[in-house]
Amino acid sequence: MKLLILNGPNLNLLGLREPDIYGGESYGALCRFIESVCAAEELECEIFQSNYEGALVDEIQAAYGVCDGIVINPAAYTHTSIALLDALKAVALPAVEVHLSDVDAREPFRRVSYPGMACIKTFKGMGFEGYREAILYLKAYLEKETKKRS
Ligand code: DQA
Repeated sequence: MKLLILNGPNLNLLGLREPDIYGGESYGALCRFIESVCAAEELECEIFQSNYEGALVDEIQAAYGVCDGIVINPAAYTHTSIALLDALKAVALPAVEVHLSDVDAREPFRRVSYPGMACIKTFKGMGFEGYREAILYLKAYLEKETKKRS
């Protein structure tokens, strides 16, 4: 089972960026955390971060026929990107949304998530742990779907 883990703009600046909101750990530390979770769950994973909306769309399209599911933290594109929503709907891979912070407890504009409308579940406000929860949720979902089909 292979998962694509997508991270949007400014997440490469974790550690430096508003540590009171996003924590003091770096993006490298997040990638190592994700890799260790996937290794423990015997999942293959590809991690991709970009500050560009189109690059994230390209990566979602490229996952079609290659990955079984997507974990996505669209970062600021959460609140603006119909292109990411459409890409997720186009490939129709099961996707789980993650946010390090609790977007619902912040500014009102963070309460809308376009990509989230194509996701089966959202984890927010749990820091790095939200990625673990998302990966475990997606794995369980994919296993259930496989069983249903056999
Ligand atoms: C974020 C929340 C978004 O509102 C924000 O624009 C981000 C990060 C999070 O992980 O909490 O860049 O997705």
